Formats: sequence, structure tokens, C-alpha cells
Amino acid sequence: MTENSLQESVRTIRRDLESAIAAADSTQEIEALRVRFLGRKGAVSALFKQLGSVPPDQRKAAGQAINDLKQFGEDEISRLISRHAATTTTEAAPDLTLPGNWPQAGSLHPLTLVQRRIKTIFQNMGFAIADGPEIETEYYNFEALNIPKGHPAREMQDTLFVDNGFVLRTHTSNVQIRVMERQRPPVRIISPGRCFRRDTPDATHSPVFHQIEGLCVDEGITFADLRGVILNFARQMFGPDMKIRFRPSYFPFVEPGAEYDFTCFICMGRGCRVCKGSGWIEISGAGMVNPVVFETIGYDSERYTGYAFGMGVERIAMALYQVEDIRMFFENDLRFLQQF
Ligand code: PHE
Repeated sequence: MTENSLQESVRTIRRDLESAIAAADSTQEIEALRVRFLGRKGAVSALFKQLGSVPPDQRKAAGQAINDLKQFGEDEISRLISRHAATTTTEAAPDLTLPGNWPQAGSLHPLTLVQRRIKTIFQNMGFAIADGPEIETEYYNFEALNIPKGHPAREMQDTLFVDNGFVLRTHTSNVQIRVMERQRPPVRIISPGRCFRRDTPDATHSPVFHQIEGLCVDEGITFADLRGVILNFARQMFGPDMKIRFRPSYFPFVEPGAEYDFTCFICMGRGCRVCKGSGWIEISGAGMVNPVVFETIGYDSERYTGYAFGMGVERIAMALYQVEDIRMFFENDLRFLQQF
């Protein structure tokens, strides 16, 4: 075979290769044409085998032509492979305009949210925050508050007893005593915290619940101050149209004592399901600190007067968020908690 006829074969194969490259459009087809032209038994190998029959003086030029063809084939096929990969992966390529994966952020518990709002309002009125123990002696929970042995509030159905005279506090009023013991008037505090009572859980009762205690003692404090502070709180919390009302009631540590209600903040007093048609939401008890309590902790009851009030955090949260079952606050069901 002469160089010329080998060169002719090279050109023919090159043309075949070019049209095969133009036609191939799947991974399998590209691989097939690579084997056909560049494989061990492919067209290019076959050309190299024929090189031996070319006269020695023409062999160099002929070999060069085959090598060029081989190089051309390798370059074209690898270009084809990468072009094919680029087009077939378009769908899987990241779309940078899609929203990212948001980490699940936690949120504050509805009782925490309500408690924080209440605290802020009272802090702005000059009240400090006080704290007291949840496991308390009977003295601070009852005796010092003028609740003697035999009083209904001390009976088994209400109080959870620990032992050695300790109880789980049934209200936050223990903090009144603890604050007055260590501080001379003027006193102006609120104290948020957990309370415990031996109640069977139902839609309106939970053995664990939250109160916010308020206490203000100074010279010349009157029931009008109590009323003003509670009214101001109600309006800041729920809006300027709020009304409050006091109903005479009895708590051994206040005299006179009252229970107080807010205008129902769902229906604004017209009457609805949440307020059971009354137009009012019951909040808690309040009154003027009983002079007996001042005597117990050593304040001069001739010189000082004061008021105290409680506040049921769950009651406010239930009406505010229209939660109909108090147990929701304690079950930690994420479907409930994620709504706040
Ligand atoms: N401690 C009372 C209760 O738990 C509420 C209260 C607080 C009443 C302060 C009067 C003054 O029901």
C-alpha cells in the first residue's frame, strides 16, 4: 500500500467520524462511536496495522496522518461528551432563585408572650419585678397572709403538700410577705410565677397555672390607687375602651377585698361565647393589704397602707387568643404552639 492510498483511507474515516459525531446524541451512541473509531479493534487501529505495508520512506508522513486523525477523534469525542453532559444535566442544576431551606425556628410560649407584655406595662408604671420560691413553707403561703389553720384554702383538695410543713405554693401571694420582710416601704412590685393546686385538669382547671402578684405599700395609698393602676393596665393591654369592675369578695390578707373583671376583650362587652354572655372576663382578686399582715411582718399599720392584687395569666391568655381549653398551654403540642 502506498502513502497516497493510506492518506485516502484517513480522509474517508475522518469524514465518517465527523458525520457520526454530528449524529450522536445519547451517551450510548457516543460510546459506540468511540469504540468504532478509537477502540482497540477500531478504524484508527486498523490504519496503524496497514502502516507496515507502506514503503519505509513514505511511512513517516502516513503515520503522521493517522496520528492526526487519532488526535482529532479524541478531541472531538471528549468535546462531544462534555457538551452532552452539560445539556442533559440542565434540569438538575441548582436554581439559585428558589427559596432556601429555612431552619425551623422556635417561638415563645403563649404564656411567656402574655407574661412579658404584662410585665412591661407594670414596669413602665414603676413596678419592680420580685421573685419567690415555688416550694414554700405553710407560714409564707398561709399563716403570714392571715390564713389560719382550718381555713378552707388550706384543705386537702386545694393544697399540694410536700412534707415537713412545705407546700407547693397555691398562689403568688407568698412573695408579698417575702418582699415586705426584707424591704421597708415604699414597696411597688409585681411577681410573676407558677402556682399549684390539687385540681383535676379540665377545660378551665390545671394543677399548674400562673399568676402575677402585685403589691404597693406607702403612706397614703388608697383603693383609688389600686383602681387606677388596674384600669391603666387594662387599657394598655387591651385598648382604651376597656372598663373594669370590682365585686366585693373575701381574701383573709386584704380588707376590703374584691374580685375584679375586665370588659370582655373579644366582644367588648356585648356578650359572647368567651365571656359566656356576661360581657366581663374575671381576672383575679385584689384589695387593701390587711393591717394584720403589716403587723405580722413588722410594718407600722398606722403609718402605711397598701394594695395587693393577683392576676390569672392563663385567663388573660385564653381570652386574648381565644383558647378554649387551658390544657392546651401545658400539652406542648407543636401544632398549637406554632401558631404563636
Ligand atoms: N392570691 C389570691 C388568689 O390566688 C388572689 C389575690 C391576690 C387576692 C392579692 C387579693 C390580693 O386567689
